[in-house]
Order: sequence, then structure tokens, then C-alpha cells
Amino acid sequence: MVFSFLIFSAATDLQTYIVQLHPHAPSKLLYTKTLHWHLSFIERTIALSEEDPNSRLLYSYDFAMEGFAARLMEDELKVLRSMPEVVAVRPDRRLQVHTTYSYKFLGLNAGKEGAWMRSGFGRGVIIGVLDTGVWPESPSFSDRGMPPVPGKWRGVCQEGEKFNASLCNRKLIGARFYTKGHRASSPSLPAVTPIMEYVSPRDAHGHGTHTSSTAAGASVPMASVLGNGFGVAQGMAPGAHVAMYKVCWFTGCYSSDIVAAMDDAIRDGVDILSLSLGGFPIPLYDDSIAIGSFRATEKGVMVICAAGNNGPIPSSVANEAPWITTVGASTLDRRFPAIVRLGNGKRLYGESMYPAHGLHNSSRTLELVYLSGMNKGSELCYRGSLPRAEVRGKMVVCDRGVNGRAEKGEVVREAGGAAMILANTEINLEEDSVDAHVLPATSIGYSEALTLKSYINSTKRPTATIEFVGTQIGKSRAPAVALFSSRGPSLTDPSILKPDIIAPGVNIIAAWPQNLGPTGLPEDSRRVNFTVLSGTSMACPHISGIAALILAIHPTWSSAAIKSAIMTTADIFDHYGKPIMDVNKPAELFAIGSGHVNPERAINPGLVYNIMPDEYVIHLCTIGYTSSEIFAITHRNVSCQEILARNKGFSLNYPSITVDFRHQKMNKLTRRRLTNVGLPNSTYFVEVKAPEGVEVRVKPQLLTFGHVYQSLNYKVWIISRRRYAKQILTHSQGYLTWVNVHNKQYRVRSPVSVTWADK
Ligand SMILES: *[C@@H]1O[C@H](CO)[C@@H](O)[C@H](O)[C@H]1NC(C)=O
Ligand SMILES: *[C@@H]1O[C@H](CO)[C@@H](O)[C@H](O)[C@H]1NC(C)=O
Ligand SMILES: *[C@@H]1O[C@H](CO)[C@@H](O)[C@H](O)[C@H]1NC(C)=O
Ligand SMILES: *[C@@H]1O[C@H](CO)[C@@H](O)[C@H](O)[C@H]1NC(C)=O
Ligand SMILES: *[C@@H]1O[C@H](CO)[C@@H](O)[C@H](O)[C@H]1NC(C)=O
Ligand SMILES: *[C@@H]1O[C@H](CO)[C@@H](O)[C@H](O)[C@H]1NC(C)=O
Repeated sequence: MVFSFLIFSAATDLQTYIVQLHPHAPSKLLYTKTLHWHLSFIERTIALSEEDPNSRLLYSYDFAMEGFAARLMEDELKVLRSMPEVVAVRPDRRLQVHTTYSYKFLGLNAGKEGAWMRSGFGRGVIIGVLDTGVWPESPSFSDRGMPPVPGKWRGVCQEGEKFNASLCNRKLIGARFYTKGHRASSPSLPAVTPIMEYVSPRDAHGHGTHTSSTAAGASVPMASVLGNGFGVAQGMAPGAHVAMYKVCWFTGCYSSDIVAAMDDAIRDGVDILSLSLGGFPIPLYDDSIAIGSFRATEKGVMVICAAGNNGPIPSSVANEAPWITTVGASTLDRRFPAIVRLGNGKRLYGESMYPAHGLHNSSRTLELVYLSGMNKGSELCYRGSLPRAEVRGKMVVCDRGVNGRAEKGEVVREAGGAAMILANTEINLEEDSVDAHVLPATSIGYSEALTLKSYINSTKRPTATIEFVGTQIGKSRAPAVALFSSRGPSLTDPSILKPDIIAPGVNIIAAWPQNLGPTGLPEDSRRVNFTVLSGTSMACPHISGIAALILAIHPTWSSAAIKSAIMTTADIFDHYGKPIMDVNKPAELFAIGSGHVNPERAINPGLVYNIMPDEYVIHLCTIGYTSSEIFAITHRNVSCQEILARNKGFSLNYPSITVDFRHQKMNKLTRRRLTNVGLPNSTYFVEVKAPEGVEVRVKPQLLTFGHVYQSLNYKVWIISRRRYAKQILTHSQGYLTWVNVHNKQYRVRSPVSVTWADK
């Protein structure tokens, strides 16, 4: 049997908690092994029962956090919380997982001076991916031409169901899986939904195969999704190595498993951690990803995360700790037109990856039907909601929302429908994620949907035809912000602009497991090596791969320096030279951060804003975190009073500048420090595009560097003049750019975001 069923045996009154401990507690010295120390807490907590403490322990953490994960009863928590060594006890949190062409769109090519050649395609860098696992036989994980496994690698290729150690190679150098948090928390699943999983690093969902191949997939010629998007598939850093940490299962990804994976990844020796997963924003001291990634950053591992798919709601951006690189999603200029021609001659623009080529019957004229107002979810095409008699042989209109886009197509097919039009609603507007549907189908925007529905209303026997045009490149304005991409300002730390950067995340083609159809539906019996997905999950590994290229060229750079290089060189104009758009207006900084990644410029930024781990601690003091909150994140015992006295007027040396006049005086002094990583002798002048409603003064106006790695400081005063602005502003935005006097290619740009009131 290909699949197996995970057996859940957890008792319902036990819940998973992550227990964080004081790293220097005296009682630790009594134990030679950390594991035994951790077990002693469980032993003391459950003292009255005769249970083996081992049976309650899920994970013992070493690197990403000091502490452990265990299953506990509610009345045991009080005992545990009263112990002096315990810093925090947090319930496990369930999080969600949020080609072939995007490297060309981003300007990567095999030119001699280019990022790929200079970095050896990311040679020697190890990218750790936390996701749903990997399909090792995919041609994207072939190790042909790969250099040997780096000597510093300490990871393993963990065996499990349909996965043995011989499946790892010089491309996929490691693979592990984490089930304990997931198993302990999932007994309440409906018994009727069989959860098909491989209890091993093997990917049963496709998400992890897709994201890891986007970061570092090998070059595969003649790739396509059933003929669509034909071309060479390859990741951003085809020369980098991949290590998969499977933490996401059918039910989601549990933070106890995630911390265990980060713990291993740090010890294994990854250079970059790529997390295309997350939840809603929560305070940093409660956020296991924020905590684990602080420890990772301290140990020199760069952490890159998806911003989330909860846009365009303001303040929906997740994974927003300042030491994380937070990635939003943008569109490509590649389209898959599938036009709807209505019976009255009107044409509606739609898109689809349904493989229509060679199928003569795919473009037939059919009767249209839209079943609304039946209170069964028929307009959404829920399973079981479509009466066969009404849809058989017809083209069915399904509204977007609630159930999956491709699943709606399967529902229509099962009910006997011949084709489908997927209609966007007010929520999705003109957002255009495409799918390789199981039947002839296309996806139309909201305004087209209104036209379609009024046509259906206007006639007794509405009809339509779908014309599948195929793949088109370069005919549309891009990049633009993806509607679903989560937006700032950050809920938990509005003093830092988030997301940091946007990267391609709509209709991305990348590797796919060979036992899944391109829609991922169990009913889809077609087989492919690549499929199309959309999400900030797809944007994140683009940045992870590009970070690998930069690290391969500059092996000594810190993760803050690499992030600065990516941010200060980003594009704020699209390929038509016009501002990057967000739906129908120029995008705000809360959607694009510093802009759209430009890898060829990012490898040679001229100057960088570096940050030492200690500076994050000072920052946490300045935003008002208490010592115990800071301790939970950093495991450092700090007195903010002393720190703030010693660092008067400190500003985190972030590559973007944010002023929030809701919490700050109307005259804000910000400091920054630039480090020269370009030519030894270089002079930069400052260019300011002041946000509306403020005056910006910079001192000095000229920075003259005499050698490489020299650092120079400057100050920025941002003075509110909102009273004199024509309208009452809630926020406004501008840019501060350092331009090299002799070499104008060096433009080191920071977005400047100013807020006076809630949006
Ligand atoms: C590992 O799996 C491969 C392919 O499934 C098989 O050929 C090989 O014999 C297995 N090796 C071991 C040691 O089980
Ligand atoms: C179209 O024709 C193909 C091959 O003749 C057939 O397999 C498929 O089911 C048909 N599709 C529809 C929607 O009628
Ligand atoms: C179509 O008709 C229905 C019922 O008469 C009405 O509720 C709906 O608003 C109409 N839709 C459009 C787009 O005109
Ligand atoms: C997928 O890749 C494998 C290995 O390269 C190849 O044998 C197989 O034919 C490919 N499958 C498809 C559907 O292209
Ligand atoms: C933290 O440091 C202060 C003084 O620096 C000390 O009084 C306190 O006991 C320390 N707390 C912990 C938990 O070590
Ligand atoms: C940099 O400038 C200094 C002083 O102007 C000069 O002595 C030195 O040779 C220059 N170095 C380079 C590499 O141009």
C-alpha cells in the first residue's frame, strides 16, 4: 500500500505544552544530560501518578530553545508554573502551510558576471526547509553535477515509511520528520477523514517538494504542467544543498514539532532556514518561531519566512520578528489566458492551466448554469450540493471561497458537469491564481463575474465557450502585489516595517510528488513532475535561494547583512517603469516593504546595514518589552533600565525606517550605521524623497569611506508637518537613498514609513 494511516492514541485530557526553562538554573548542574534534567520536571509535576515521565515527554530542546515539549493535564500546569526554573509554559500552537520561469523574470541568467556564475549557483550553501516533506525521486532533486556534501554537515537522512537513507544524495543532503506534537494534538479529528501520510520525510501533500525545489531545485529541461508553462525548471540556487525537516502534516504544523526541527537544523549545520508556514501574528515572546529563530540568528543561521496569506487585511503580516526576513508575494508577467465567450458575443478574460492542447472537445459551446439561493452551498460548489439533473453536460459557474478551487472542479465533474467557470467574489477581486483543473475550466475576476451573472439572468438559455489560449509571457504589467499577500503594519512591533520584501508567489511552477495529480486532489489520477501553486509560501523560498547566492559569494556576511543587501537593492517599479501596483492603485510600503527582490543587484549592494544580536535585545527594550518577556525570547537576563541608560536614543540599524507618531514625539531622531562592502574608496551622497506631511533632515549629507568594512553613522530627523498638509494623513511614505558619487549603480535605498493614526 502506498499510504498508511497514522494512529492517534492520545487521551483527550492531555494537551501539549512547550515548557521553557532557565538555561542557568542551578538544578541543571545536578544532571549530566539535559534530557534527564528535562524529565525531572515532568517527574515532579506528575509525582502522584505512577506514570513513566518518558511517556509524557515529546521533545527535549537544546539549540532553538532551552526547554521541552510534553503532554500535561491542566491541573499539572500550576505545579509546573510554580517551579523557579520555569520561564514560560505555552500551549502548542497549530500553524498552516501558507518556475520554471521566475528565475528569468528576476533577471537570473548564466551570464559571466551574473549572480549565478559568481556564486557557483549557490555552491556549498545548505538550505534547511521546514515543510511537508520531500519527494526525493523528483528530477529537481537529482544531484548530477553537485559538489560533495559540505564537511560541516552533521545532519541525517532519517528512514521511515517508503524512505530509506539511500534516497538522500548530494542535492538532498538530509531529511528528518517530526510527528510527536502532531500526533499528540490530533485525536479530535473526524474519524471518517482518513489521513493519508507517509510516516517519514516523504511528502504526501506536495507543498514541501514545491517550496524546496523553488529554493534550490536542480535544472530540469523540458518541464511543464501538462504542457503549460513549458521551459527549464530550476530553483533560485540550483547549486545549493537542501535539507528537509518535515513538520507539517494533514492537520497543520505544530509549534512543538517546529522548535524540534529548528533545534536539529541549527545543530546539523544549515546556513539558511526557509519556513513557508505560520499563523496569525502573536507577541514575539509567545511565538515559538520568533524564539527559535532568534537562537538560530545568534548562531549565524539566517531565517526566512512567508508573511502569510491573510491580505489585504491590514496588520495581517505574520513571522514579523526583526531578526526574521519576512516575505510577501507578487505576480509574474506570465499568463495562461482561457477566455469565456458568452452566447451574446461578449468575451470575458479568464485564466487556466487546464491542459487543453490536443483535446478537441475542450472548447465546446455549452449551456451555462449558476445555482444560487439554494441554501446548500451550490453557488460555491460544495461536495454534494450540485443536483446531477441540473448540471449534467453543462458549464457550471462556481463562486470562489471556502472549499478549494480545484476541488470545486472535481465536484462539478462528479455531478456530471462538463466544464466550470470559477468566479471571483468581492473578496478575491481580480486575483488570478490558476489551477490545472480536472475538467475544462477557467477562473475569472470579480467584474467579469458580474457581467457573466447578469448575462445568465438576462436570457432563458445562456451558453458559453472557453477558449484556451496557452502560455503568454510579457504581455501584462508585473510585478504587482498579490491580493492575498499579508499586509503590515506589524501588529506586535509597528516600529519595524513588515513585510521586508516581496518575491514571486502567484502561479509558480515547481516540483511535485509523482504520486499526486497536479491539483493534489485524491481523485486526480493524472501524474506530473511539476505543478502550479500560489501563496507567500511560494515567495519565501525565492528569497531563501537568493540569500544562498549572496552567501556563496560573501561567505562571511551576517544574516542581517544579507537581508540588508536584498532589501536596499529591491525594485519599486515594475517592468514598465511604473510604480508596483496593488489591485488598482500604487502599492503601499505595508504591502511591498522595501520592494520587489532584484537578485543581480542584491549580490553587490555597495553598503549594508548590519545588526549584532545584542542590538535586537536593546530594540526589545526600546519597544517596551519587560525583562521576563525579553528573557523568554533571548534567554538573556537583561535590565532594560540599564540598557536604555547606556544606549540613549538607540535605533535598531534596520534597512527600512519607520516612524510611528502614535507612540513617538512629533520630532523623531533616528540613527543608522552603514558598512562599506563595495569599493575601498567610495563617497555616497543622500537623496531623500520625503513622505508627505514630514520634513526629513539627514546629517551628514555625504559619507566618505576609505576602506572595505568601514562603518559610518548618520542621523535622520523626521519632523511632522501634518498640520500643514492638504488633507489629514493617517500615514505616508517616502525613500532615503545613499547614492555612490562615482558609480551610480550603487543605490542603497531605505523605505521611510510614517504613521499618525490607525488606517
Ligand atoms: C532503498 O530504497 C531503494 C529504492 O526504493 C532500494 O533500491 C534500495 O534497495 C533500498 N535500500 C535499502 C538499504 O533498503
Ligand atoms: C474530451 O475527450 C477526451 C478524449 O476523447 C475524453 O477523455 C474526455 O473525457 C472528454 N472531455 C469532456 C469534458 O467531454
Ligand atoms: C440575478 O437575478 C437574481 C434573482 O432574480 C438576483 O438576486 C441577482 O442579483 C441577479 N444577478 C445579477 C448579477 O444581475
Ligand atoms: C518525471 O521524472 C522522472 C524522472 O526524471 C521520469 O522518469 C518521468 O517520466 C517523469 N514523469 C513525467 C510525467 O514527465
Ligand atoms: C537577573 O539578574 C539580576 C541582576 O542582574 C538578578 O538579581 C536576578 O536574580 C537575575 N535573574 C535570573 C533569573 O537569573
Ligand atoms: C584610497 O584613497 C586614499 C587617500 O585618498 C589613497 O591613499 C589610496 O591609495 C586609495 N585606495 C584605493 C584602493 O584607491
